[in-house]
Amino acid sequence: MKLLVTGGAGFIGGNFIHYILKKYSDYKIVCLDKLTYAGNLSTLKDAFTNKNFKFVKGDIADRKTVDNLFAKEKFDVVINFAAESHVDRSILNPEVFLVTNIIGAQVLMEACKKFGNIRFHQVSTDEVYGDLPLNRPELMFTEDTPIHTSSPYSASKASADLLTLAYFRTYGLPVTISRCSNNYGPYHFPEKLIPLMITRALNDKTLPVYGNGKNVRDWLYVEDHCKAIDLIISKGKMGEVYNVGGHNEKSNIEIVKLILKKLNKPESLITFVEDRKGHDLRYAINPEKIEKELNWTPETKFDKGIENTINWYLENKKWWEDIISGEYEKYYEKMYKTKEKNL
Ligand code: NAD
Ligand code: DAU
Repeated sequence: MKLLVTGGAGFIGGNFIHYILKKYSDYKIVCLDKLTYAGNLSTLKDAFTNKNFKFVKGDIADRKTVDNLFAKEKFDVVINFAAESHVDRSILNPEVFLVTNIIGAQVLMEACKKFGNIRFHQVSTDEVYGDLPLNRPELMFTEDTPIHTSSPYSASKASADLLTLAYFRTYGLPVTISRCSNNYGPYHFPEKLIPLMITRALNDKTLPVYGNGKNVRDWLYVEDHCKAIDLIISKGKMGEVYNVGGHNEKSNIEIVKLILKKLNKPESLITFVEDRKGHDLRYAINPEKIEKELNWTPETKFDKGIENTINWYLENKKWWEDIISGEYEKYYEKMYKTKEKNL
């Protein structure tokens, strides 16, 4: 089995590569990644020592690069993790989200079609369903919930999902889509809530909470997401969408306070800042379909997952300290100074 994993130098793709190389000694993986600010070769350090792993630097939206790679390697399955993934950045600069997340997905599917009707899996997000109210806990996203996006990021992901289903219906391309809730775990880029709060608290810096901190996310340990994708690519039904979620809703302020408690840092580090524009209130996934059809279940309880995650950041300081110097610092200043000022 030869897999093309795009975006494997990022958070979830990197975890997926480690998971697959460990589980299947006979699988070969080629990782195609552009190494944007979010891509990090040190995430793949262990994979580089495995003879079944190969890395190619390149852009999924570059047709020539993609076609040359598909002509050279005979892939059995393509799993598309590559994306611009941060909602805040999509609000500042939407265009690159359209190129990578929409055109990139289309270029990959076109190559799958051209080089032998190759199996394609699109890694999508619960954000395509928009948000749910805070006062209706019984409501959850199912695969039939209408698409209703809020940010340029979620709109670009929804577009890619629609294109994926169009490639199934029009060309018969064997496709599946997974729509997952918020992941957390090792190698998570420290611009996202959990790693941002852990790394800033460790450095005794302020923790910027948007709005009143009551927005809710449904957190899933990244390894459970990797297991779900592995099941979908081996047993999923073509043309189907599978929701993947942790049964684990928490408000942002709960998460931040928990991290501070675990690190023995004071709550006075919390700073409420200007809210995100168009901020989705609540996400909640109903994962019944994947649980029933593919026998998947989120195995890591949040207490254990957050403990593992915090320990990982404590034990891998070099990984994130290298990231938070240089360009990242400029991004942080730009993103958060105005938020503090505008409050
Ligand atoms: P990430 O930002 O950590 O990593 C993205 C990776 O894609 C990086 O390595 C980057 O270099 C690469 N990349 C970006 N543009 C590229 C391009 N044009 N060509 C090739 N490579 C490119 O993202 P993540 O959090 O690991 O998310 C992975 C996927 O999962 C995304 O599609 C995202 O939409 C989806 N998703 C993420 C979450 C989450 O909680 N993080 C939840 C649900 C779905
Ligand atoms: O739901 C899946 C999605 O989860 C993925 O599709 C996205 O790629 C991923 O980035 C994530 O999106 P969110 O916007 O939910 O994640 P983020 O970590 O950016 O924010 C989580 C919540 O925390 C959100 O309500 C905004 C809030 N927040 C975030 C940051 C970065 C803060 O309060 N302060 C912050 O500094």
